[in-house]
Amino acid sequence: MAATPHTLGAPAERIEGRDKVTGAARYAAEHTPPGCLHAWPVAAGIACGRVTAVDTAAALALPGAVAVLTPFDAPRFAAPPDDAELDVLQYDAVPHRGWYVALALAETPEAARAVAAAVRVAYADPGDEPEPHDVVLAEDHPEAYTPEKANGGQPGHRERGDAAAAFAAAPVRVDTAYRVPPLHNHPMEPHAATAHYSGGRLTVYDSCQGGNAVRSVLATLFDLPEDRVTVVAEHVGGGFGSKGTPRPHVVLAAMAAIHTGRPVKLALPRRHLPAVTGHRAPTLHRLRLGAERDGTLTSLSHEVTTHTSRIAEFVEQAAVPARVMYGSPHSLTTHRVVPLDVPTPSWMRAPGETPGMYALESAMDELADALGMDPVELRVRNDPATEPDSGRPFSSRNLVGCLHEGARRFGWADRDPRPGARREGPLLIGSGVAAATYPAYAAPSTASATAHPGGTYTVRVNATDIGTGARTVLAQVAAAALAVPLDAVRIEIGSTRLPRAPLAGGSSGTASWGWAVHRACTDLTAALAARSDPLPADGLTVTADTSDEARRTPPYARHAFGAHFAEVQVDTVTGEVRLRRMLGVFAAGRVLNARTARSQLVGGMIMGIGMALTEGSTMDAAHGDFTESDLASYHVPAHADVTAVEAHWIDEEDRLLNPMGSKGIGEIGTVGAAAAVGNAVHHATGVRFRELPLTPDRIL
Ligand code: MOS
Repeated sequence: MAATPHTLGAPAERIEGRDKVTGAARYAAEHTPPGCLHAWPVAAGIACGRVTAVDTAAALALPGAVAVLTPFDAPRFAAPPDDAELDVLQYDAVPHRGWYVALALAETPEAARAVAAAVRVAYADPGDEPEPHDVVLAEDHPEAYTPEKANGGQPGHRERGDAAAAFAAAPVRVDTAYRVPPLHNHPMEPHAATAHYSGGRLTVYDSCQGGNAVRSVLATLFDLPEDRVTVVAEHVGGGFGSKGTPRPHVVLAAMAAIHTGRPVKLALPRRHLPAVTGHRAPTLHRLRLGAERDGTLTSLSHEVTTHTSRIAEFVEQAAVPARVMYGSPHSLTTHRVVPLDVPTPSWMRAPGETPGMYALESAMDELADALGMDPVELRVRNDPATEPDSGRPFSSRNLVGCLHEGARRFGWADRDPRPGARREGPLLIGSGVAAATYPAYAAPSTASATAHPGGTYTVRVNATDIGTGARTVLAQVAAAALAVPLDAVRIEIGSTRLPRAPLAGGSSGTASWGWAVHRACTDLTAALAARSDPLPADGLTVTADTSDEARRTPPYARHAFGAHFAEVQVDTVTGEVRLRRMLGVFAAGRVLNARTARSQLVGGMIMGIGMALTEGSTMDAAHGDFTESDLASYHVPAHADVTAVEAHWIDEEDRLLNPMGSKGIGEIGTVGAAAAVGNAVHHATGVRFRELPLTPDRIL
């Protein structure tokens, strides 16, 4: 691609930055059509059972009350949704706590909330008790089974060679276990939708990671042709996977709008998010690593136990990264899943890789300890020439480069390897390293590019910018392909009226949309060059569709890699762990915007700091509820928790990806980050903590 200094790779500021800071950018809940009603859902107060009656009399007598929809009288869907979590108000069973059992509609948000609070729900109560529920995950749970597939279509179970025998024969062995609690996505903007049904057309403003999937679900459920449904997601305040699939709020908003004939706005209270927008399932890890005395792995086994709900199978694929990371002639990677009376887990930033690499990279640190070997050197020694599980060559793999560059920048060589050796008064200081990996995906997309008389261009694609800077990066991709300045390009994203495109997920958004944008702009450039007539007043438009290339399965293993280095202090009086500094180096193909990329990577690392030190949710056995459901009890890192976090990258030339040569950067920053912090805590204290988060109660 023609490199123009002002476009691709440049640290361009967000195109919509000014609109965001001035409030001109409007999010899903900030659209209020005339006559708009407000909705507030009623969440089930039991974890398992049946609704026998919903008494709405007192609720409907409140000022401003308009209606209450219940499982007994809500409109029925034309067809059942594929996602069982969307089958709301269609039947009386309660599959998990927090499941919606009614929807209050009123003239104001305050009234809707009051109406919802006044709804009285009765549940089937044999013996005056709700049906017993089971929400507790255990390795030996009688209902645990090995799924055929884990998330993403990955095999649930893989074995090469004889991992058990090779482990037994290994001169150096680590047999260890780690626990990661449930985690919640908690985007800054909670899920919200405003729906309007008029003249047989449904228009929905939704906070989502991809409008095309939302449109297709709404069209199916409400029996509308897709071209009569429009989903707009112009600005979205984060999702981290929880908005990657349509969620109950948008279904309920559309249902209520169609039912009442009035626009309806539904903005979820944050405390509802853990139960209805997915969560990262808890994972129990057992790792067995066997090695020669020189550190060469001979056996690698990673066994994961996790939960799913009773209504859908979702298997956090946490053993999958072990199939990518290190060479070993014998390997076992397997998942077991237990269906419980819990909300259905779903995608959360780097699903699989995040908990899986926490466990694997912690275990690698234990192995380095057992060997008396530097943990950077151990990883370098086991860097494979081809992808261990598939045998495919890597399109590029620069983990070793990231480790060396990170070690150099961090000053790793000056580290005293002995645990507990560095003390400042009551503080123990330590540092740790961990590796990162995340696959480089791309999905089919379409896009159009229009040349206008006067030298300006409009690029259209239904991409979603969830706060990442995607809108700006796509404009840069277009400007580079058109060989014009960035400000000659106008970009339109975030509506299903625009050319169809996949979601912002799997770190694949920019690769997928950018590929189609690049194609449309390249073809437009050629069409303009071939043309001698002046442009017509409405310009010249070219559309592109990357279905053929993006669907082709390449004979290469394509992944981004990275290395994290963390320094912590552990207060021996209070048990508090504080991050002193953290540094990540990533190899993620070509970086398309240095400013937004750095922000994505640093943001991912901060999420890893939260996972290591403060974030964690408890499934309360008595009530079947997530105990920490708000930001007061579920602490995501605040500024005071985050000091001196740096992200760097190796500029990688990889022609086997997409025309931009990019790998995706949305998730890799978080993978392995928690392990680096945990390994630093071990180095500081000499104690190996194997359950997250590393809160003072665990440290003391
Ligand atoms: Mo991300 S969890 O792929 O939206």
